[in-house]
Amino acid sequence: MERGNFGSKIGAVLAAAGSAVGLGNIWRFPTECGSNGGAAFILIYILCVLLLAMPVMVAEFVIGRASRSNTVGSYRVLAPGKPWVVSGFLGVLGGFMVLSYYSVVAGWTLDYAFESISGGLLAHTDYGAVFNDFVSSPWRPVVFLGIFLFVTHCVVAAGVEKGIERFSKVLMPLLLLIIFVLIGFSISMPNASTGISFLLKPDFSKVTKDVILSAMGQAFFTLSVGIGTLATYASYFNKETKLVKTALGVCTIDTMVAVSAGFIIFPALFSVGVDADSGPGLVFITLPYVFNEAFGNMPVLEYIFSALFYVLLVLAALTSTISMHEIGTAYIHETFKLTRPKAAMVVTAICLTFGIICSLSFGLWKEVTVMGMTFFDLFDFITAKFLMPLGGLLICTFVGWDMNKKLVASELNSRFTPLLMILFSWVAPIGIGIIFVYGLISG
Ligand code: PHE
Repeated sequence: MERGNFGSKIGAVLAAAGSAVGLGNIWRFPTECGSNGGAAFILIYILCVLLLAMPVMVAEFVIGRASRSNTVGSYRVLAPGKPWVVSGFLGVLGGFMVLSYYSVVAGWTLDYAFESISGGLLAHTDYGAVFNDFVSSPWRPVVFLGIFLFVTHCVVAAGVEKGIERFSKVLMPLLLLIIFVLIGFSISMPNASTGISFLLKPDFSKVTKDVILSAMGQAFFTLSVGIGTLATYASYFNKETKLVKTALGVCTIDTMVAVSAGFIIFPALFSVGVDADSGPGLVFITLPYVFNEAFGNMPVLEYIFSALFYVLLVLAALTSTISMHEIGTAYIHETFKLTRPKAAMVVTAICLTFGIICSLSFGLWKEVTVMGMTFFDLFDFITAKFLMPLGGLLICTFVGWDMNKKLVASELNSRFTPLLMILFSWVAPIGIGIIFVYGLISG
């Protein structure tokens, strides 16, 4: 079967960066950072990125490009008959789960983008009520979830070069531009310095086991690693793409965007005296309020700021949902010989079903819990704190210990190969293992 390819190196880098940069940076990172103590969390998170998540990213690139296959097929090519293929199946499962609940929040961003462009959002004053009414409504968030999944579906069905690459090339630079403008607005608000020191002055007394597990989960989530997303993308990289350089570039862009999101949100929050620890509603409840407080007497600026922000969220989410969708689509397309659009249809249908369940857990099914969590929280927990670290551990162990050493070295083709081998074989598996077991046991 003819396989897709990214047509250019820059297209490949931007697609991988597009996968990494998303709601994880702009919605999940500030939420986690706010509820885990600010600067100390950021430091641990950066350590997790460097020592644990980045090695997993490089390992995924190696597996993907060496096998030129989807995440399950890659183990069948590289280690036929061995149980590593389980890691591929866990990845496909993770991809379905993450896309299902992520699309719910992506749907919210779409609604907020429409509302802020039409001026509807600014007409309100009680943003908590607006948000709660919206997310608990049985149909409206579901409609937006459906629209979001449909758009994702269309891009993925269109294929690698015409769909994914073309989109990422336009969206990623636009995203970075909007972020710069927004930081400028935020740090020039009165009293912004309190928010800046929340982000820069660590208080280690706030660090608990749970903070460390959360920081690792965030590192994996934000870099899209551990469930084969980037292995799938790397299977479309051409031979000239430098894997280590690409990984460094993606990690740098992703971390910059996350920290920038912190610099957009916290200075503004502290400037108007809102609590940093306000949970998942942070960007949907507190921010409109912040826009309102900050620009109350300049409605045009308020309009521009909020419209830009929510459009930014939509774009960031889209380049990520595309990559989650691609894990399952590539697997089904190549394994069951369905055409790409048909394979994509299967993924969309499954994720829409589970997405609706997750969406309802903010309203009708609020009381339905498993292990004390709603379906939405359960999906987030299972993917970020369980499947992604576990997958990462397996991926690094495979590349470090079992994969053909010559093949690994020729794929890496870098002067950092010896260092990377130590990270794959020892540092990442042991580090992930310890945090994982410790964090789960302490529950
Ligand atoms: N990294 C994406 C983000 O930060 C989320 C993601 C997770 C994408 C897993 C693909 C796979 O929003």
